[in-house]
Formats: sequence, C-alpha cells, structure tokens
Amino acid sequence: MARPTILVTGAQGQIGFELARLLVPYGEVLGTDRSTLDLADPDAIVAAMRGAKPALVINAGAYTAVDLAEKEPALARAVNGRAPGILAEEAKRLGAVLVHYSTDYVFDGTGTAPYTEDAPTAPQSVYGASKLEGERAVAAAGASALVLRTSWVYGTRGRNFLVTIRRLAAERDELAIVADQVGVPNWCRVLAEATVRILAAGLTPAADRAGLYHLSSTGKATWYDFARAIVGDAPRPRVAPITTAEYPTPARRPAYSVLATARFEATFGFGLPDWRVALARCIATPTDSTRPP
Ligand SMILES: NC(=O)c1ccc[n+]([C@@H]2O[C@H](COP(=O)([O-])OP(=O)(O)OC[C@H]3O[C@@H](n4cnc5c(N)ncnc54)[C@H](OP(=O)(O)O)[C@@H]3O)[C@@H](O)[C@H]2O)c1
Repeated sequence: MARPTILVTGAQGQIGFELARLLVPYGEVLGTDRSTLDLADPDAIVAAMRGAKPALVINAGAYTAVDLAEKEPALARAVNGRAPGILAEEAKRLGAVLVHYSTDYVFDGTGTAPYTEDAPTAPQSVYGASKLEGERAVAAAGASALVLRTSWVYGTRGRNFLVTIRRLAAERDELAIVADQVGVPNWCRVLAEATVRILAAGLTPAADRAGLYHLSSTGKATWYDFARAIVGDAPRPRVAPITTAEYPTPARRPAYSVLATARFEATFGFGLPDWRVALARCIATPTDSTRPP
C-alpha cells in the first residue's frame, strides 16, 4: 500500500523542523518552506495541496515576528489568518486531516488562572489577532482539524529566547529581563513529539478528536525565571529583573498567558512535562542531534 503523503509547512521553523524528522516513519514527508510554498500566496497553497494530495497536513509555518507584525499587518494576516483557512478548505476537499498551531497571544493576559480553550479571546497585538483569525478560518472550513494552541516556543536553533539568552550571556556581564509577564516556555521538540504521538494512533482517531486544544508544558515562569534557568549556576552573567514598562516593545504581550491543558490530557491520555524538566532535557541534548538525518 502506498505510504500517505504528509505535507509540513514551515519545515525550517522550530516546530516544523522537528516534525519533518519525526514523521518520516509514518509516510512520505513533503516539507515546504517559504521558497517552495509561500503561505501568503493563496493560489500556491491550492496548487500545492491539489498536487501533493496529502492525507495529513501540518501547518507549522507562520508569521511569528511578533513586533514586526505591527508594521506588516497585511502580510501577518495573509500568512496567519488567511492561509490556514485555505489549507483547511483544501484538506476538507481531499478528506485530509489538518493540524494547525496557534498561540497564547490570542488572550489579553488579564487573567490570573490558566486559560481554558473556552476562555474569551482578546488579542493585544497584530500577531495575536492574525492567529485568532486563522483559528476561526480553520473552524469555519469544517475540516477534520486539530488546532493546538501553545506558548513561548524555544529550541537550540532558529530565533527564540534560549538562543538569544545564550548569545547575550557570552557577550555581557548582566542581563535585564522582564519579570512581570507570566507564561510557560515550551521546547519545540516536546511539542513535535506530542503532535506525532497523537497522530501515531492513526488519522481516523485524530479526525474523531478534531477541535481546539491547549498543548503546553506545565508550571509557569516569567521571562526572568526562564533566563535564570538557561544561565543556570554560572557566575556570570547576573540576571536582573525589570518590568515590561522598562522594556517597551512595538507589540503588547499578555501579562499572564498560562494555558490550561486538561482538555488535551483528558482527550489524548497524556500531558507534557514541567517546563523546567523539558528545558533541562533540551540543554542536555547535543546540538548536533537537531540536524536532519
Ligand atoms: N514561537 C513562539 O514562541 C510561538 C508561541 C506560540 C505559538 N506559536 C505557533 O507555533 C507555530 C510554529 O511556530 P515556530 O515557533 O516553530 O515558528 P518559526 O520557528 O518562526 O517557524 C515558522 C516558519 O514559517 C515560515 N514562514 C514565515 N512566513 C512564511 C510564508 N509566507 N510562507 C511560508 N513559510 C513562511 C518561517 O520562515 P522564515 O524563517 O523564512 O520566516 C519559519 O520557517 C506557529 O503557528 C506559531 O504561531 C509559536
């Protein structure tokens, strides 16, 4: 029997890169990036889907430059808001399953307890609004789609907080890090492994569980906590807590965006490790092993 085709968008991104490796045992993985499938181009998406006829589509591509999005709202909306809907429509047409990722930045951050999937959304940034639009477009298409909201994604490659702190730690004696935003760091590999685990049971069970889920490590952290955990016991750099007001950015971030993961755990029968456990595993993993096979 022919192996199913699995289309992974954003295959050079943090989650997409991990997924493209992990999915190899399950089918013919067609990993695309901006040069081979521009998610801002609706015709290209339709052509790619109709050409490849995937049984499974994982949309790991996204416009993730949160601050730049304030200046490029049309592009952010095209990639994050419109493209997921087109992928979902085409997935429905083919009878394919779609997995799509979204973000804690759909919330306004005024909460004080973990946000459930049903909590009211009120994005504070262009990025958050564009991702919410994408969620809604996927839901409107009526495809068999799993939408996985996650938060604070990092890894040893790409653009992320871990890579930035490691670079700054080599350059500076002191780091001033925001200590009044609370969320949960998530290692991209753990997110990819969890995604593969829910798909490994088969596409039909996955389709039966279509819907919106929060997928995140447990615990909570500020960016300051996260930086201190990355730096560890090293005598330098010193990590100093500062406020959001002392570190103004073009895009507003939620002050609190911990995601409640009970729905995911009850549905799929497992949860993710505490963020500190995942970070320790990430730091202990040789960087070489993140290269493609
Ligand atoms: N990063 C986070 O902290 C975070 C938090 C919550 C949720 N998420 C969500 O998780 C998912 C995966 O995020 P990630 O952290 O793995 O993101 P990432 O590392 O930024 O990867 C996204 C990939 O999408 C690509 N891309 C951007 N514009 C594109 C376009 N027009 N056409 C095709 N590809 C394009 C990027 O390519 P270029 O490098 O060329 O731009 C990049 O390789 C996204 O849905 C994101 O919204 C991320």
